[in-house]
Formats: sequence, structure tokens, C-alpha cells
Amino acid sequence: MRRPVRIAVTGAAGAISNSLLFKVASGEMFGKDQPVILQLIEMPGRMEALRGLAMELEDCAYPLLHTITLHDNVEEGFNNIHYALLIGARPRGPGMERSDLLESNAEIFTRQGRALNDYANRDVKVLVVGNPANTNALIASRNAPKLSPSQFTALTRLDHNRAKGILANHTGANPRNIGRIVIWGNHSTTQYPDLHHATVLDEPVMNQIDFDWYQNVFIPKIQNRGAEIIEARSVSSAASAAQAVVDHMRDWILGTDAGEIVSMGIVSDGSYGVEKGIFYSFPVRCDYGRYQIVRGLDISEWGRERMRLTEAELLDEKAAVNHLLPPETEASHQNLSICLRSGVTLYADGTGPDASSKYLTTNRVM
Ligand code: LMR
Repeated sequence: MRRPVRIAVTGAAGAISNSLLFKVASGEMFGKDQPVILQLIEMPGRMEALRGLAMELEDCAYPLLHTITLHDNVEEGFNNIHYALLIGARPRGPGMERSDLLESNAEIFTRQGRALNDYANRDVKVLVVGNPANTNALIASRNAPKLSPSQFTALTRLDHNRAKGILANHTGANPRNIGRIVIWGNHSTTQYPDLHHATVLDEPVMNQIDFDWYQNVFIPKIQNRGAEIIEARSVSSAASAAQAVVDHMRDWILGTDAGEIVSMGIVSDGSYGVEKGIFYSFPVRCDYGRYQIVRGLDISEWGRERMRLTEAELLDEKAAVNHLLPPETEASHQNLSICLRSGVTLYADGTGPDASSKYLTTNRVM
């Protein structure tokens, strides 16, 4: 049996986590031979709900679930973690402007970046899910000077999966036969879902669909899918977001399928002319725990225009939180060598539970 890996989840009693944690504990994310330690983090007022969730996890008797610890602060919850799934964020309330949302979440992600810097394993891999995910990833990364920006990512796999599912429905193809979709830019309504490189059964998609449908139905549908779901359910997407988190992390750690492209929000190294240092969704491939941007895709002027639009939104968001981006991490985000990390999981600690955790609930000998 392999040594357990430590995974921190924020917003752990929330709706996304309610779906996600059962998938992680059953081995869907890290593989069926990888034991996991879940370090679950919630706000102090939500600890009872979190305790209930931990009891349910325990009651599933998952063979791979080594330990669960519960924490009401990130400094304790991030201790020695190998993976951070940052789901908790303040949702947009009535009358709140996007800039208010940016501001209130910026404080949360500044603290989380610092805590990752100070307490996480040096090789930690971070996925930001809480919105505005790309800019939250930027804030966390800029506040973690001891970590590489390439260790931080933002979730656009949800958009990627949506594009695949909706295209499958439209063409009558099985989603497994659809490949090479690209989501460019921000996880927002400005994102550019690009089908120009996509294939159905290895044939170009653009030969099989009507351009008007692509431009006027498909693109707006993907861009607005989150809002459409909120409208229908009165709450945000949860199970599909959890599935996207699993897919993102599994591909990052275990590698993408041969020839496949997936979309990840990552720090821009200037590829495709995108301004360096912002978190932008690119086409990537993963291997040995590292991701690499797929370069050289042919982009028309029509596509470039859409890529620039979503880039401009990210630059606006960056400007709105600029006061929270420490100048000393500017250079590391401008001069990137992507894939700095070995992908090897480092163990700085023993693998047992942290005995000081006041919410500790379970521990299992593997
Ligand atoms: C989604 O895409 O479903 C969410 O990001 C929407 C939201 O604002 O919570």
C-alpha cells in the first residue's frame, strides 16, 4: 500500500464538497491504490455540519480513507498538505457588484496563499474553485513567495466538460469520442470555448456543425451555463463542479490520455500572446504530475479577438486587486519556467494524524 497523501479542502461542508469528498475517498481522484488523509476546513459556525459530513464519510468504510481531520482555520488545516482544493468563497449576494465580490474574496485568498506558503508541503498542488477562480488563484499564488506559480491552478474543466457534454448531445456522439476542446481565458461569461481543434471520432468538429449554431448558440450556452443552472436550481452547480475537480486533479496527477488536450486555468507564460502573470485557461497536457501548454494551435483572427476579450477582463480583475499583490512576487510571475517542479510527492512529515487537531474524528491504520 502506498503512503497516504494529505488533501485540504476549504468550504468542506458546502454543496460541491458534499459530492466531491465521497469521490476522493473512493479513489476516483488519486487512483484506487492511493490512501488519502482529508484535512477538511470550514468556518467556525459550520463545524457541526462538517462533523456530520465526516461521520457519513466514516460510515462509507472506504478502504482508502486513512484519516479525516476537521479544522476551523486554514493555518492548521493546510499543515503539510500535498494538495489543496480551495472551494470555499463568499458567494455574490443581492446588490453586490463584481468588484465587491473580488474584494471580499481577495482577503480570503490572500490569507490562504500565505497559509499555503507557511504550512503546506513544498510540492503542494493547488486548485482554486471559488469564484472569481482565476483571480483568486492569482492572489493566492502572489501571496505564496516560497511556492512556484506553476503549483497554482484555477478550475475551467467545468466549462471544458460542459462543452463536451453539450457537443455530444448536439452531434449524437459519445463524449468519450470527442477530444481536443479548448477553453481559453476566464471562468466567466467572457471565456472562449474553442471547437476549431476539436474532433469527433478523429474528424474535425467544425466540418460537422453549423457555424451559426457554434457562434450564436453553443458559445453563449457554455459562457452562461453557470447562471442558467443557478436560475433553474436557485443554487450553483455542485455535482458537475465536483466531477470537474476530480477530472482536473486526476489528469494533473496521473496524466492526460494520449493525444488528449484539457483546459486548465494556469499562470500565463506569454504563450499565444497572453499577458504574462495572469491566470488564464490554456490547452494543456499533463504527465508525471506536471502540465504543459499545448503550443502551436492555429488561431484565426476571429478566435484571437475572443481570446483578447477574456484576457482584458482578467487584466481588469487584476487591476481591481492590485493592492493585494505583493510587488516581490511580480518577477516570479513574469519570468516563468513552467514545470519547475519534479512532480514527486515530498514527505516532510509522518503520515499519521495531527494529534493537536481539536476536531480530529477518525484515524485508520492501513
Ligand atoms: C458555475 O460555472 O457553475 C459557477 O461558477 C457559477 C457561480 O457563479 O457559482
